[in-house]
Amino acid sequence: MRKIETIHWVGEVDGQLRLLDQTLLPTVLEEREYADGDVEGVWEAIHSLRVRGAPAIGIAAAYGVCVGLQTVLEADEETFFIRLNEVLAYLSSSRPTAVNLFWALDRMKASAVEIRKQMRFSQSFDAREIAFRLLEEARQIHEDDRRICHAIGTFGAELLPDGAGVLTHCNAGGLATSEYGTALAVFAKAWENGKKIHVYADETRPLLQGARLTTWEMRQRGIPVTLICDSMAAQVMREGKIQAVVVGADRITANGDTANKIGTYSVACLAHLHQIPFYVAAPKSTFDLTLPTGDLIPIEQRHPREITHGFGSQSAPDGIDVYNPAFDVTPARYIRGIITEKGVISPVTEENIRQLFLD
Ligand code: MRU
Repeated sequence: MRKIETIHWVGEVDGQLRLLDQTLLPTVLEEREYADGDVEGVWEAIHSLRVRGAPAIGIAAAYGVCVGLQTVLEADEETFFIRLNEVLAYLSSSRPTAVNLFWALDRMKASAVEIRKQMRFSQSFDAREIAFRLLEEARQIHEDDRRICHAIGTFGAELLPDGAGVLTHCNAGGLATSEYGTALAVFAKAWENGKKIHVYADETRPLLQGARLTTWEMRQRGIPVTLICDSMAAQVMREGKIQAVVVGADRITANGDTANKIGTYSVACLAHLHQIPFYVAAPKSTFDLTLPTGDLIPIEQRHPREITHGFGSQSAPDGIDVYNPAFDVTPARYIRGIITEKGVISPVTEENIRQLFLD
């Protein structure tokens, strides 16, 4: 059987992007294919969470640029760059909160500008050659993420005591990244190192990334996992079952405030109250140093039906008023440490965060 991956590219510039459709998990394992310029399909996949999780969104968008350029592989310079700019702008409108999306698109744009500059010296324009080199850049983003996730896992595993109960919210695993995850990489590495941890997964209303995806991944890796409703976290902490909380992130501002899946902030408050260390695991590409504090992070608002008709069955009266922010912001003061590929930032201060970017 062919290996199933969250994201992969098959072939060369004329090839196709394949995404594991996460909306169907855990019951159906099915990939979708995007090719022949179908950037609308990639946009829809990101918007509807077929591919989701901050790093995975960035990787998918980078490959999405390559899909979009398939219509201009034989075009002249002007046509090619008009299309490139359209594709970049369009993909950047797919979701607003995870900064990895914009980071990856900026990296693709900067790469195109650089390649064009180099081509000017040779005085000939070759659209196919630029597309080929942009595909190489997307592959590099993908490959870098694998290495980064493993490094995050290694640094984070050190923080967990042997025998710890660890709580996580949403899914920050292999499905949300290239393969290994951020928060779940910490658990995986601790487990591989022989630490007998036990994972508690919040189900994560309303789209159940914890119930559907985190438990599925933990099972696949053979790590003991217990599913709880979001509303049970306080009780589980009070019972002494949790020694650390580790979550992922969608955007971290200059002062360390962290946007992650809605409900994360509640968990951070509870951890603070119970004096349980609360960690965020995220790559450098999740930091947005242009924003001083978390109040400025754009929070995605999603469709009311995700709450009133979760997974097909109606659970609220017709026409009821609904508020459905997809993310919340945890203040830096509740975060014991941010686990990155360069090490753990602790205490979480603006100065320590800036230091990470100087190295
Ligand atoms: O709406 P989602 O499922 O894309 O939200 C995902 C999260 O909040 C993750 O915790 C975050 O992106 C980190 S993934 C390594």
